[in-house]
Amino acid sequence: SRTITLAVIPGDGIGPEVVTEAIKVLDAVAVGANLTVAKTTYHLGAARYLETGDVLSDEDLASISTNDAILLGAVGGAPGDSRIPAGIIERGLLLKLRFSLDQFVNLRPTRVFPGVVSPLAHPGDVDFIVVREGTEGPYVGNGGVLRQGTSAEIANELSINTAYGVERVVRYAFELAAKRDRKLLTLVHKTNVLVNAGSLWSRIVDAVAAEYPQVTVNYLHVDAATIFFVTNPSRFDVIVTDNLFGDILTDLAAAISGGIGLAASGNINPTNTFPSMFEPVHGSAPDIAGQQKADPTAAILSVALLLEHFGYTEAAAVVNAAVTEDLAARGASVRSTSQIGDAIVARLSSFGQ
Ligand code: NAD
Ligand code: IPM
Ligand code: MN
Repeated sequence: SRTITLAVIPGDGIGPEVVTEAIKVLDAVAVGANLTVAKTTYHLGAARYLETGDVLSDEDLASISTNDAILLGAVGGAPGDSRIPAGIIERGLLLKLRFSLDQFVNLRPTRVFPGVVSPLAHPGDVDFIVVREGTEGPYVGNGGVLRQGTSAEIANELSINTAYGVERVVRYAFELAAKRDRKLLTLVHKTNVLVNAGSLWSRIVDAVAAEYPQVTVNYLHVDAATIFFVTNPSRFDVIVTDNLFGDILTDLAAAISGGIGLAASGNINPTNTFPSMFEPVHGSAPDIAGQQKADPTAAILSVALLLEHFGYTEAAAVVNAAVTEDLAARGASVRSTSQIGDAIVARLSSFGQ
């Protein structure tokens, strides 16, 4: 049996609630996969910051880095909480992990599962995956503010796009597209306005496309992409896009799939130099925290991505199947976070036995 060391960061709000269910599922499926998961929990996030002032120490980062993977719930306080400076947790913890661990591929799959009610009347057969760049763009923190608080204030966040950074994520997206049935890759950008970065992305996509003649490539401006997400989401297969566009598009994708509580993600370091990090797309949801109202499905599907990452394809499929069955049987029932987790675990029980 193989052992995977897992850093668990439950985080804030609904984070610990959904992580509890994700771990239930992981532990249950690990038995059948002949896998041992050795977990270390790190108490990080807004709550820890309020208690101790710590965001992510060098010691904690170094310790987290020694693990094979990370499972994160959600971090961040209630928007507008005056005790927490804006972005301190998001930038200092979540983005610091993604950047320090060079998780340059942010994988965000979207499906409309059978039986799930999409807010779209006719969503069609939706099954696409957004490959969001994870370490560049306007997220890098390259910017600043001049004359703050005056009427002459200037506030800047510069979007950084390197040939190295764009090419590696574009290559990943082509590899992924080539393995899928439809082999269709859509670049989403805003090349009509962001002409410098847009040109770099377009030229790299064109150059790499020559190596993947089996992949059909097309392009959409990000504003037009939001139209098609709503009017014809089944047209998409693999989407490759920059960090900020990918952030916005994947909340929209989650919404059309039937809710943010269903959207999973993997922050992948494909070279395996550093641990990859699996987390639901959603945040700490302060509005429903502590009430067992959160849907743990996104966190559980993130466990499936983790299993897939380590080559446990069958175990991942078993988790996906259990979630699919649970969603199909859900109807209008109102269940607690742990009831949903238990129901999904119950559907796994025969795996490996
Ligand atoms: P959010 O995703 O936390 O919540 C948006 C809405 O979706 C809320 O109404 C919430 O109740 C609902 N929701 C979210 N997850 C749900 C689930 N599993 N089941 C049912 N409903 C769910 O976004 P927000 O309100 O913009 O952010 C809250 C905090 O989380 C902020 O501090 C933000 O920075 C942080 N955040 C963290 C992450 C992360 O840790 N990866 C991601 C996004 C936001
Ligand atoms: C997400 C979140 C993060 C992001 C924030 C909390 C930094 O919205 O994971 O989608 O913008 O990437
Ligand atoms: Mn987001």
